[in-house]
Amino acid sequence: MKDIKAKVIFNEEIAPRTTRVRGVPGYFRMGLEAPSLARLAKPGQFVQVRCGETTDPLLRRPLGIHRVKGEGSRVKGIEILYEVVGIGTKLLSERKSGDVVDVLGPLGNGFNLPSFTLHPSPFTLLIAGGIGVAPLVFLAEVLAERKIKSVVLLGAKTKKKILCEKDFKRAGAEVHITTDDGTCGCKGLVPKLFEDILRTTNHESLTTIYACGPEPMLKCIAGISERYSVHCQALLEEKMACGFGACLGCTVKVRQAGREQGFINKLTCKDGPVFDTRELIWN
Ligand code: FES
Repeated sequence: MKDIKAKVIFNEEIAPRTTRVRGVPGYFRMGLEAPSLARLAKPGQFVQVRCGETTDPLLRRPLGIHRVKGEGSRVKGIEILYEVVGIGTKLLSERKSGDVVDVLGPLGNGFNLPSFTLHPSPFTLLIAGGIGVAPLVFLAEVLAERKIKSVVLLGAKTKKKILCEKDFKRAGAEVHITTDDGTCGCKGLVPKLFEDILRTTNHESLTTIYACGPEPMLKCIAGISERYSVHCQALLEEKMACGFGACLGCTVKVRQAGREQGFINKLTCKDGPVFDTRELIWN
């Protein structure tokens, strides 16, 4: 874990809010010069970002690592993708190229990638709801580098909120889209699309599901995965304060290994944010 001052390379609005509330902008992608942090980063990990130039707001914001730029010894930095939802992310959206941002990371465990020893031709399904696409782009790019086939399911309220379709396609993934209002792709929620795919295709070779999005979506995806006996890892978008296990403010209930009943608490920031869905106890 590094605590660094990272130079902003760019900070661009990539999609507007569907309903502009008092001029609040929508979704932003920010590039940060942070080679030492980027070299350590794994898909599914996150960074804690101080959004403004002062300590107000006091808490940093946890943001998934969206992409690592550069390769090997030429790794230059990371990108983050975020939605402007409050004062912190509003301040972040106002940072300009050349500004310096306080960043702590990489934090958390990250996704477990398929092993070629166990699966000679691994095949993965990535499922994103809304801003849950952010960490899955990094995952799709790493899977592509390792020549692992992936199919991506993107779900959003409406066409304007579909993010990163081109990024996934550029990484060689097959992309399926669903929107709540039917303005793009199929009409309906992403768990329904997921179940339709499992029901109508041969999913024997499916190695792992990787999912990120709002909790109700993840809960449905976990239930479907269990019914079809497919392995699923979910990245939880839990609220966090410290981000490294000090404040105990991000607990989740997980099953105790080998026991039918009872639970233990784990920390999303330190033991997660990625969990095997079979161990999670949902609210
Ligand atoms: Fe502080 Fe997890 S955010 S312990």
